Amino acid sequence: MISADLSGSRTIVSGGASGLGLATVRKFAEMGSTVGIADLEGDRIHESAAGLVEEGLDVFAAPTDLRDGDLARQTVRDAAERMDGLDYLVNIAGHPVTLTIMPATDLDSQTEEFWAEILSVNLLSAFRTSHAAAPYLKESKGAIVNCVSMSGWRGGGSSSPYCVAKGGLITLTKELARGLAPDVRVNAISPSYVHPDSSNFPLKWDTVFEDTKSLPLGRPGTGEEYAEACLFLSAGASYITGQTIHVDGGWSA
Ligand SMILES: NC(=O)c1ccc[n+]([C@@H]2O[C@H](COP(=O)([O-])OP(=O)(O)OC[C@H]3O[C@@H](n4cnc5c(N)ncnc54)[C@H](O)[C@@H]3O)[C@@H](O)[C@H]2O)c1
Repeated sequence: MISADLSGSRTIVSGGASGLGLATVRKFAEMGSTVGIADLEGDRIHESAAGLVEEGLDVFAAPTDLRDGDLARQTVRDAAERMDGLDYLVNIAGHPVTLTIMPATDLDSQTEEFWAEILSVNLLSAFRTSHAAAPYLKESKGAIVNCVSMSGWRGGGSSSPYCVAKGGLITLTKELARGLAPDVRVNAISPSYVHPDSSNFPLKWDTVFEDTKSLPLGRPGTGEEYAEACLFLSAGASYITGQTIHVDGGWSA
């Protein structure tokens, strides 16, 4: 387990109400950061924030919908103003927008609406939050971490548009790294399988344990393990930018 002294720092985690986003909120807050959770309005964001506050962590809910560009930007600005600045932005929010796997052979299901929704949630959301966060991060010499997926490298995820969105986020990570350098570093983590206890992804993961047996490390990753990688890329990694690191139990090995 790695640790860092994040006392006095300010963080926004998108998708922080559940799954590995919530694990990341917890990790940064335990290290001393004030953390704003940017996630959908509903019971989950408030319950997640309240649970961590009860544990003595400095966390607050910033309800939003990152599919709405204006709202996404305003949420980030409001949260940063509330904290008097921003040091770290972790873009974890994502969604498959389908309850079952959509095979790549099924082009008919890949409607215009589906493509637009997938790209908005899984790719453009990270641009929107990064855009709004950029002035604050430049000021603090901060960092951005995006969350991509193994399916962004060679396909085979929940749907072709999802894979394309995650592949786009790998490239967006490089472009933002160039665009915000030298003040802001921008990197990404690429998860493989997330342990079901650390994910509310609405797909059936009945086979997750079977699939992960073939990984070199033979198991899915926990939220804590993904959060640690986000912590390293945010608070350490001072000479690393534009990179996506595989946190995947050896899937890419
Ligand atoms: N679960 C996996 O096996 C897996 C594998 C590879 C990559 N990932 C990626 O990891 C990230 C986290 O996944 P997870 O498993 O923790 O899932 P999760 O569903 O538990 O968490 C995703 C969070 O994003 C939020 N979100 C979705 N749409 C949003 C919107 N429009 N505005 C604001 N917030 C929104 C959700 O409310 C949720 O809290 C995602 O980006 C996902 O694509 C997951």
